[in-house]
Amino acid sequence: MGINVDIAQDWHAALAALSWQNDLGVEDVVLDAPVNRYDLPEATRAVKVDAPARVPNVPSPAKTPPPIMAAPAVDVVAVAQASAARAGSLDALREALAAFEHCDLKRGARNLVFADGNPKARVLILGEAPGRDEDMEGLPFVGSAGQLLDQMFAAIGMSRRSPDAEAALYITNVMPWRPPGNRDPEPDEIAMMRPFVERHIAFVDPEVIVAMGNTPLLALTGSKGILRARGSWGQAFGKPLLPMTHPAYLLRNPIAKREAWSDLLALQARLRG
Ligand code: URA
Repeated sequence: MGINVDIAQDWHAALAALSWQNDLGVEDVVLDAPVNRYDLPEATRAVKVDAPARVPNVPSPAKTPPPIMAAPAVDVVAVAQASAARAGSLDALREALAAFEHCDLKRGARNLVFADGNPKARVLILGEAPGRDEDMEGLPFVGSAGQLLDQMFAAIGMSRRSPDAEAALYITNVMPWRPPGNRDPEPDEIAMMRPFVERHIAFVDPEVIVAMGNTPLLALTGSKGILRARGSWGQAFGKPLLPMTHPAYLLRNPIAKREAWSDLLALQARLRG
């Protein structure tokens, strides 16, 4: 009987753990190599469990109210500001982000996605957040939207791979961790990353910032509405800011590529002075 109770509790605990992972956006489980479970020793195989309904009166942990504990109030934006301010270089900023424990997205992500490109670039592209491909590779804009982004900038002679600062791009995101299921980052998540973004921009010190989509527009200007804002020069952290529609939007709405092309030409004209 004691064994049955343990098994039933394990079952509920496993279900709760699975559903927690699902909330975090876990969509697949990948091991480095395939495992043939028929080759495993008997003791390590899954225990066959009869339906837990056979165990009467076992309270489900999910239904037990959590103990009420007074959580200490932490001003996470102030923590982020202090952490970003202590970082004395781009490498230190990456380490500060890696050590930042107040963003739940970190727990669901495979990798920290910090940046790619040439830190001496005249143009800094600020994106939204990593997607699945970026989370796997630890680099921004490497999926289909990233390929379009590379093509768009190649059309005006710019590349993240250029060693020449004149033609180089530096690419980063507001969020360094993938949001579950690629949902939009929440305002509080954006707010806690903003001090890191500000410091990141200060280290790269680009001539121009390009905000790709609504999340960077919100992080940099406090307002949304990329379809209205795109193509109109603004200011962020003392730098000229060009909002553009996100390449993922362009993939879904190819007709909008016309406007994106005119934004790229405006950027090129500005850089040519
Ligand atoms: N979209 C973004 O905004 N950033 C990435 O890194 C990838 C897709």
